[in-house]
Amino acid sequence: MKIDRDAPVGVFDSGIGGLTVAREIMRNLPAEKIVYFGDTARVPYGSKSRETIIGYSRQIIRFLKEQKVKAIVVACNTASAFALEAVQEEFDIPILGVIEAGAKVAAQVTRNKRVGIIGTEGTVGSGIHAEVLKKIDPEITVIGKPCPLFVPLVEEGWTHDPVTVEVASRYLRELQEKDIDTLILGCTHYPLLRSRIIRYFGEKVHIVNPAYETAMDLKAVLEEKGLLNDSEKTGEYSFYVSDAAEKFTEFAGSILPYDVAATRQINIEEY
Ligand code: DGL
Repeated sequence: MKIDRDAPVGVFDSGIGGLTVAREIMRNLPAEKIVYFGDTARVPYGSKSRETIIGYSRQIIRFLKEQKVKAIVVACNTASAFALEAVQEEFDIPILGVIEAGAKVAAQVTRNKRVGIIGTEGTVGSGIHAEVLKKIDPEITVIGKPCPLFVPLVEEGWTHDPVTVEVASRYLRELQEKDIDTLILGCTHYPLLRSRIIRYFGEKVHIVNPAYETAMDLKAVLEEKGLLNDSEKTGEYSFYVSDAAEKFTEFAGSILPYDVAATRQINIEEY
């Protein structure tokens, strides 16, 4: 099969959170077409095992390949932490994750070499950020803190609610006490809490949003492979989920800078 520049980019996540990554691709690579898949039937990924997440990721990549995508972005941090290496070995298509992109920037901006990482239990427990950061600079100390309640709070739309303010200070206090000067938002939903997190730490902590960095990485990979879409036209976007398409469409409309017309539901277990 001949892959050309005009083919779409596949982006997937456990659900809606990966739209924060899709949004950065739309903003920064406006000509690219996107096929987005949200695994809404099997979310959350953050509390599941590595084997399960690798199995899910394989199925989704098979589906996206059937849509003739030219590259795939694993927009989910948990799937990037658990499955990226395995799927990169198995599939003959460029596959990018969200971990390295954030880690690279964190290593560049930290001054005191104390970097915090917040994410799901799976992502933080995997230790992948420490692994990547220590390869770049062995002197960096990584302090991880799972923040599992952030995902449901964002999905409930409570980004500015007093409950979220309280939960955020409980989770973040420990990181502040450990004197971090850089914090990686290691979960798809957390960019939506960015202003709350900035308010907590003030100017002292540099907040790294891997969604933007991943879009930049994607651009570099597509350019290198001669696959960057150079059309003047804005890309087309299609959305697929494994359950509750209407709910997804509604949420997507609140995250993306335009109204999502329709989301199609597919049976991912068939792949
Ligand atoms: N998308 C997941 C992540 O970035 C968060 C939601 C989940 O647990 O599935 O890790």
